[in-house]
Amino acid sequence: MIRFEKVYKRYADGFQALKDINLDLEAGKIHVFIGPSGCGKSTTMKHINRLITPTEGKVFIDGEDITAVNPVQLRRKIGYVIQNIGLFPHMTIAENVAVVPRLLKWDEIKIQNKVNELLSLVNLPPETYRNRFPGELSGGQQQRVGVIRALAAEPDIILMDEPFSALDPISREQLQDELTNLQENIQKTIVFVTHDMDEAIKIADNIVLMKAGEVIQVGTPEQILRHPANDFVKEFIGKKRLVEHRENTMFTNFDEGVPSVREVMIDKPVTAAPQRGLASSLNLMEQRRVDSLIVVDKHRKLLGYAPILNVLGHISDETKVLADVMQSFTFSVKPEDPFTAALEYMGQNNAPYVPVVNEENILVGAVTRGSIVRLMSEVYPVIEEVL
Ligand SMILES: Nc1ncnc2c1ncn2[C@@H]1O[C@H](COP(=O)(O)OP(=O)(O)OP(=O)(O)O)[C@@H](O)[C@H]1O
Ligand SMILES: [Mg+2]
Repeated sequence: MIRFEKVYKRYADGFQALKDINLDLEAGKIHVFIGPSGCGKSTTMKHINRLITPTEGKVFIDGEDITAVNPVQLRRKIGYVIQNIGLFPHMTIAENVAVVPRLLKWDEIKIQNKVNELLSLVNLPPETYRNRFPGELSGGQQQRVGVIRALAAEPDIILMDEPFSALDPISREQLQDELTNLQENIQKTIVFVTHDMDEAIKIADNIVLMKAGEVIQVGTPEQILRHPANDFVKEFIGKKRLVEHRENTMFTNFDEGVPSVREVMIDKPVTAAPQRGLASSLNLMEQRRVDSLIVVDKHRKLLGYAPILNVLGHISDETKVLADVMQSFTFSVKPEDPFTAALEYMGQNNAPYVPVVNEENILVGAVTRGSIVRLMSEVYPVIEEVL
């Protein structure tokens, strides 16, 4: 356990970077520090390995005041990963990973086994990568080496200061996944700094949200998303992620500004005439990748719908046409209705779509699951998470 007790930090130029930091960071968990640039995340983190000493207050590791520990020894027991890796360019990958174990005078065989084990853990086969130089690896691969170098001496604590932020989104996601998988095996105390709320939500057991040198809220991702402490936290989390916001806007409680059915519907659902034969109906479904056809007469008056199972059920009977196998709709909406009417019906009846008709029962469109996803994805870029 890492404990901050009333820690204040004022830099030499008089800048008050931290004010009254009190934290208990439980062992074996991933703690993510997040907050705007300059809020003091790195400053707080660097107190843990004594790269920075507090102006006031104390930091404890497992109950021991760390000012009592020799800083060099302390740092050998704490892994440290930073944004631009800091691999030594003239050393091979294996030598880079082995730096701290060598300092600790581990037995050479133990070192080599450790290096191989760690390289394999992050999908860098040792036979391929051991003897390469950092410049011969991609950015994501280099960052993996940075991570395992921090693990090599088997520290109990690992500090990671925006370790993935220079990576492209795909490598970044991959490394996040690898880190959480790795953590399942190693169960270290990891302190991780990021700017990125999605990253924090994904990897954190515990989030520490900071602003202007102070801790604003501490909690699990769930707690913070569901119970943001104040407007700053809400703002920081971003509207699209707030649970209360989603509840209010996605389902029933639209007060005003509910989109109408017209705004949401597709205007060319796949239709067919009642006299259409079953083989050609099946063909149309395959072509348009739908599992039912809306049946309309030549004036586009709504007659019913023919699900694919009804069509297949009678496919061997050449005398049958759509009119013989179709069913009638029990529900339809008008273009000016709020689209929630369609949504509610689809939800309750597990219906894939709802037809949209005008006053004369002429088909003008359909609200489908796809049209709702499209609408929502304009409102919420992260909608896939919800549906
Ligand atoms: N050596 C220093 N002397 C004076 N001020 C400093 C020093 N180091 C950092 N600061 C200031 O302390 C504040 C906190 O810096 P810190 O690096 O902890 O921020 P951060 O939250 O990690 O920001 P970022 O997300 O941009 O990395 C900033 O305003 C910074 O300018
Ligand atoms: Mg920083």
